[in-house]
Amino acid sequence: MEVIELKHPLVEHKLAILRDKKTGTKEFRELVSELATILCYEAMKDAKLEEVEIETPIQKMKTKKINEDNYAFVPILRAGTGMLDGIIQVVPNAKIGHVGMYRDEETFKPNVYFFKVPKDIAQREVLILDPMLATGGSAIDAISQIKLRSPRKIVFMCIIAAPEGLEALKKAHPDVDIYCASLDEKLNDDAYIIPGLGDAGDRIFGTK
Ligand code: PRP
Ligand code: URA
Repeated sequence: MEVIELKHPLVEHKLAILRDKKTGTKEFRELVSELATILCYEAMKDAKLEEVEIETPIQKMKTKKINEDNYAFVPILRAGTGMLDGIIQVVPNAKIGHVGMYRDEETFKPNVYFFKVPKDIAQREVLILDPMLATGGSAIDAISQIKLRSPRKIVFMCIIAAPEGLEALKKAHPDVDIYCASLDEKLNDDAYIIPGLGDAGDRIFGTK
């Protein structure tokens, strides 16, 4: 398993605005989407290219394209859907699955309430989207559900990860690579990431 943290001044700049409690819903959504685009570039840096022939206005040429049918993106509801716009910007034909989960506010344990993925997911690489990896419970369960459909490969993409979540995820699914924009300090007693950005779902959807 690889853990890749994006290291770039622009990413750090955008994260600073995202984390700020004064940042409102509109800007928060836009930043989640932008960071998802950047994470997608990084997570697909080894994507297989297929040779194609095209014709420029000048002449024919052989060039290369990604076969978008090899991929599926699966946001974890709700907050993961905030990353979808940014993904579709760069993979416009992306097939999308959904895994619905919420953390029980007392036990912090995830509950699955929805599961729908592309039928041919076994032929695809699956990139799971969720802005937050805290205890890791939601990601671990989502990945376990998706593994039952035997996809070619699974990658997990998040904006902020806590060390506790990374450790738990590494242990449960050592074959899954993780891409994050920031690896934060730790969890607090309510299993929120410190310094984090608060509740990603509530900030994306303006529910609190
Ligand atoms: C948040 C977040 C992750 C989960 C992370 O979702 O988007 O899915 O918590 O926590 P964990 O690593 O400890 O499982 P939440 O359950 O609050 O649901 P929401 O997206 O509907 O707000
Ligand atoms: N879920 C969130 O949205 N934020 C956290 O810090 C932890 C879990």
